[in-house]
Amino acid sequence: MAQAILNFPRGFLWGTATASHQVEGNNLNNNWYAWEKSGHIINRNACGMACDWWGGRWKEDFDRAAESGQNAHRLSVEWSRIQPDLNRWDEEALDYYREMLRGLLERGLTPMVTLHHFSEPLWISELGGWQNEAIVEHFAAFVRRTVEALQEYVHWWCTINEPNVYAVQAYLTAEFPPGKKSLAAVYKAINTLIKGHVAAYQIIHEIQPEAKVGLAHQYRGFAPAKPISPLDRWAAKTTSNAFNDAIPRALVDGKLRFLGIRKRISEAKGTQDFLGLNYYTRENVAFSLLAPGELFSKRFFSPEADLSPSGFIANEPEGFFQALKWAKGFKLPIMVTENGTEDAEDHFRPRYLAEHIHQLWHAVNFNWKIQGYFHWSLTDNFEWERGWAQRFGLWELNPATQERLKRPSADFFAAICQQNALSSEMVSEYAPEVFARLFPD
Ligand code: BGC
Repeated sequence: MAQAILNFPRGFLWGTATASHQVEGNNLNNNWYAWEKSGHIINRNACGMACDWWGGRWKEDFDRAAESGQNAHRLSVEWSRIQPDLNRWDEEALDYYREMLRGLLERGLTPMVTLHHFSEPLWISELGGWQNEAIVEHFAAFVRRTVEALQEYVHWWCTINEPNVYAVQAYLTAEFPPGKKSLAAVYKAINTLIKGHVAAYQIIHEIQPEAKVGLAHQYRGFAPAKPISPLDRWAAKTTSNAFNDAIPRALVDGKLRFLGIRKRISEAKGTQDFLGLNYYTRENVAFSLLAPGELFSKRFFSPEADLSPSGFIANEPEGFFQALKWAKGFKLPIMVTENGTEDAEDHFRPRYLAEHIHQLWHAVNFNWKIQGYFHWSLTDNFEWERGWAQRFGLWELNPATQERLKRPSADFFAAICQQNALSSEMVSEYAPEVFARLFPD
């Protein structure tokens, strides 16, 4: 049997990623709580205590992360806690975040902090959210106050999580609040989110010139269903340009190109110090006259795909390599800010993890400037419109009792983090079904 140790560079960051609304619990003053109350979550699930981080269970979860060899953690701060109302700032909330960040540093975990991860205060939603340009100024004020309070502990900042996903799911597919279905609203949101990012980028650098500031882009692979079909190729390219490229390219050259519209946002030029990449999966795209609202594209997983239990994610590790190659094109250091899968039974996750880390290693070996990898997620947490129906944690969580149970993937990921490597021994122990593919004789 082939024996090999695939090493990562010294100082590589290994961690998990979380988001405030998904883990803190009892965020009663944001758009997601209101969305939940109006019955929009699967099975009428409630976020409830989530992982009870606001009640203090972050301590035991950070212990888990540190004990399993992780040296970094990406979390987000909840705007609705820090600024519950336009003229009200909660210093205690900021103090609590300071305590959490100290908790990370004391355990040897480098923090990365996201300032907006899908949730915002109700008063912001009432003003029209990202449809109203006034949000840019409000977001800027929130960023200033937060960064001033937390700068001592944070070097890595993520302004906004997945603005592309947020714009599409809030304003086109209606899966996120406010549940609109309008391409014009998506375009407006993208414009405003870019301006919010730019304002945040400038403020962070004004306060902390040496900080590393970026955002977490979701890159989804879109492959033409029939590569010989020009229409399928057109559909895949159009979808990819709009979803994957429009925002990050605007942050390079200050030009937003979205479905044939071109707009100059000059101040956006050069506003990233690193390229944050979230990658989960890849799908096929076929041209369809029946789907004008979806850019004449029908999207589906390949019929041979290896699917996660609910069919939400296809295990497409080569898609991860392509995503990293795409990220490399921006000529910035790359940080994998999310990657992972739902899988309550942990039958699928080990091979997903093995194959994705294997592709990451390939990319690192081309000397692409990849600085770290954050797995989504540490424990199961509240999965937005999918509530508790999907489980992304390395640790299983029972939200009613708050009991945590380690899944085998937690040990597998711990071995990777501790050895700063993926070894044939680990793969034969945790994901033997892909051993021959990863380590051919
Ligand atoms: C989001 C996370 C989410 C994950 C899995 C990502 O798009 O940033 O908040 O939990 O997907 O659904």
